[in-house]
Amino acid sequence: MGNLNSELFAAIDSVASGADEHALAASVQELMGKYRSRVDPEDLVLASDTDVAAYAAYRLPATFTAARSAFETAAASIPDLAPATHLDVGGGMGAAVWAASDAWPSLRSTTVLEQSAPAIALGRRIARRSTAPAVSGSEWRRFRLTGAVPDGPRVDLATMSYVLNELTPRVQEEVVRSLARRAGTVVLIEPGTPEGYARVIAARRQLAEEGLTVAAPCPHGEACPIAPGEDWCHFSERLNRSGVQRRLKFGTLGFEDEKFSFVAATSAPVARPANRVLRHPHKRKGLVSLNLCTTPPGVEERVVSKRQGETYRAARKAEWGDAWPPPEGTGR
Ligand SMILES: C[S@@+](CC[C@H](N)C(=O)[O-])C[C@H]1O[C@@H](n2cnc3c(N)ncnc32)[C@H](O)[C@@H]1O
Repeated sequence: MGNLNSELFAAIDSVASGADEHALAASVQELMGKYRSRVDPEDLVLASDTDVAAYAAYRLPATFTAARSAFETAAASIPDLAPATHLDVGGGMGAAVWAASDAWPSLRSTTVLEQSAPAIALGRRIARRSTAPAVSGSEWRRFRLTGAVPDGPRVDLATMSYVLNELTPRVQEEVVRSLARRAGTVVLIEPGTPEGYARVIAARRQLAEEGLTVAAPCPHGEACPIAPGEDWCHFSERLNRSGVQRRLKFGTLGFEDEKFSFVAATSAPVARPANRVLRHPHKRKGLVSLNLCTTPPGVEERVVSKRQGETYRAARKAEWGDAWPPPEGTGR
């Protein structure tokens, strides 16, 4: 299999370079305005070919990067998971389709449910450029969610990336519960905002009530120890911006940081880390301060000093989102 990351980014660049950049820039501004607030569930945000090309150019690299990070963390906590079948709901142009195949090369077949016809057309076109069988052979179905996902064969993996925000609270709950009944493992990703985290934490409880075990990012399956309204659990991934992305977003920086919240829950055995790093570690001379979600459930600031030798060297390498202590054999 080729490098899915570079295959996807090359496909996105060719979409953007084949489109009218002024029209794309106008659509990007409109989409950014809509996504900044809560999306009206009655609104079809990705309505035209220009909208979907604009989304592919300015958002898809970031949602792909966040989804891949969430899937890699989930994969580390569910070591026996080797999914063959995948259902992606609200697939857009396929960010989670590409990301899942990157994290789980065992995938052989993917079905995408999506309400927007232009999104499906572009998602299919981009997917054909992939060397991963579950991406290039992905099946795209036009479907508007108004409650539970439609009945169908059980799947090994179900994903929903940046979609809950566009559904009413009732539909969010019905979709999440139906995915828990339909799939062995469910991974949900939302923007890393207090509201995105609130949707994730509600979904986490519903997945557990349906009998799945919380696998990631949490080090335990009990209630989240973060005090509501005081903080929110989220992670961050840095990605490089292409020239066209910089022009479309009127950004001058060559990179952006995508913040996201997520939950993975499964019926497979889990191997959760003891703790997870919840912030960029604070590294000073001879000291590293780690903000940790812990087992038993809690949030604590742990200071590691140079006197702690091996542990200190590992703490210097620790990053936001990492398991702590690092799993053996990772060199961290
Ligand atoms: C922000 S985009 C995310 C797309 C993709 N999952 C990603 O991560 O890039 C939200 C997607 O959900 C789809 N969507 C929103 N409400 C939906 C509904 N009721 N039924 C089906 N799809 C829906 C939208 O059309 C859009 O493609």
